[in-house]
Amino acid sequence: MANEQAISFQLNGKHVSTQVASHLNLVELLNQFSLCGARESCGQGLCGCCSVLVDDQAVSACLTIASTVDGKSIETVEGLSSANEPLHPIQQAFIDSGAFQCGFCTPGFIMMTKALLAENPDPSDEDIRHYFSGNLCRCGTYPEIMSAVKQAARLLRTHA
Ligand code: FES
Ligand code: FES
Repeated sequence: MANEQAISFQLNGKHVSTQVASHLNLVELLNQFSLCGARESCGQGLCGCCSVLVDDQAVSACLTIASTVDGKSIETVEGLSSANEPLHPIQQAFIDSGAFQCGFCTPGFIMMTKALLAENPDPSDEDIRHYFSGNLCRCGTYPEIMSAVKQAARLLRTHA
């Protein structure tokens, strides 16, 4: 179809190919693969609900043009664990800490946590606050999210 481009990329470790329209963003592309963890809320890069990793860097999927992921590696919250596996330590830490109420923001916070701990395995409270300055939780579970990130950091250091 006119204005469509063929792209191939790694999606949660699997090679995939598709056609994308020039206006499609990465949230919409992920939805086409039935991945709904990254949610579009503000659509302006202000809330972090759509955070995913592109080549291990956290990005706002709502601001990422789908065609730009051609040849790259995308990781979403769905890629952290599968049905028959234990949860990823970051997911487990969010549950253990009660770090959500409605859960709308949670996939974004979890993927941001993965990016943060890859850069900084032992972040201070200030490091965490700074890193998450673009992620909003309307339910106000920030203290529990702080606990979850610190627990996840401990778990990942232990298993490193
Ligand atoms: S929906 Fe992407 S940052 Fe808010
Ligand atoms: S848990 Fe509801 S928005 Fe964060």
